[in-house]
Amino acid sequence: MSSNKKLLILPGDGIGPEVMREVRRVVDWMDRRRHVSFDIEEGLVGGAALDAEGTPCSDETVARAKAADAVLFGSVGGPKWDSMPFDKRPELGVLRLRKDLGLFANLRPAVVLDALVDASSLKADLVRGLDVMIVRESTGGIYFGEPRGIHKDANGKRTGIDTEVYTEDEIARVARIAFDLARKRRNKVTSVEKANVMQSGRLWRAVVGEIGKAEFPDVELEHMYADNCAMQLCSRPKQFDVILGSNLFGDVLSDLAAALTGSLGMLPSATLGAVDSSGRRHALYEPVHGSAPDIAGKGIANPCAQILSFAMLLRWSFGMEEDARLVETAVEKVLGGGLRTADIMQAGMARVGTGVMGEALVRELDKLAA
Ligand code: IPM
Ligand code: MG
Repeated sequence: MSSNKKLLILPGDGIGPEVMREVRRVVDWMDRRRHVSFDIEEGLVGGAALDAEGTPCSDETVARAKAADAVLFGSVGGPKWDSMPFDKRPELGVLRLRKDLGLFANLRPAVVLDALVDASSLKADLVRGLDVMIVRESTGGIYFGEPRGIHKDANGKRTGIDTEVYTEDEIARVARIAFDLARKRRNKVTSVEKANVMQSGRLWRAVVGEIGKAEFPDVELEHMYADNCAMQLCSRPKQFDVILGSNLFGDVLSDLAAALTGSLGMLPSATLGAVDSSGRRHALYEPVHGSAPDIAGKGIANPCAQILSFAMLLRWSFGMEEDARLVETAVEKVLGGGLRTADIMQAGMARVGTGVMGEALVRELDKLAA
């Protein structure tokens, strides 16, 4: 059947390459059993790219990412590059890809699977069945706003400056993504900002309100201060469906939400651009966890977040809902069957490494598709 699905795989640093290997097994399985083939290219990003190409993300890698239908990203960074100058940090790899590909909507689900309820730091009752989607703006705000920098005055005293800046169009387009998603879920958007202290927050609240009223009157919209949202996420997380926030608030709240699930190694994410006139959109998929240098190379990392990121890719870039569900169900079944990597190990379960987890997933896929 169709064989022109072009993927660029950027494993990056730390555990990135190890968990990506397990994704390749799933891709091969798709090839064999579902007759979907992918044209796969690999590239370097982050520290690996710094070492080989002198930059965390080369122009060529950006061009290849633009030419691909989707990018599957691992993770970047590690102690080896901690002392790099600010403009040569491995993290710039992902920031550049977001910016240059116009990937303005970062979707970060925080889901508690039944098998992992006890992994949360919160009481089981608070998180059982938790399913929150954070929509984080990801090409604007304080991450990119000008002026920025560290300046010295005449006396040699330094001032550090970052600028939070949002145009109404930037707010409106990411708000539409959040409202659209809510319609497919539990129909509620909680928009977070600090409208009580920030001008950009006032505009955020106003624009999200206008879009909601004009285009999504059927979706429940609630405005919440970002600090209150952090508190509510810890005390009553199940009140949320979709949480919409700026680049910075979304960054912080998505880490908090991920921690609630107790299993960072399980969480995928998608970062999407606008749909163009031919119906295509740039998109990048990556696990929420980082490069975990402390366990890199030991074969014990959890490949599930990377594999679930691939499932999101199937759904969002190729409309392959059935196949995405298949992969997600395989993950649930394998965990339900008692296999655990070290990060989610529980008493009475079988502790396995990265490769065994990947093999088990493929066996489960075989069973599900039989
Ligand atoms: C994330 C990370 C990145 C960010 C870093 C690595 C630049 O924390 O994806 O949440 O701040 O966006
Ligand atoms: Mg972060």
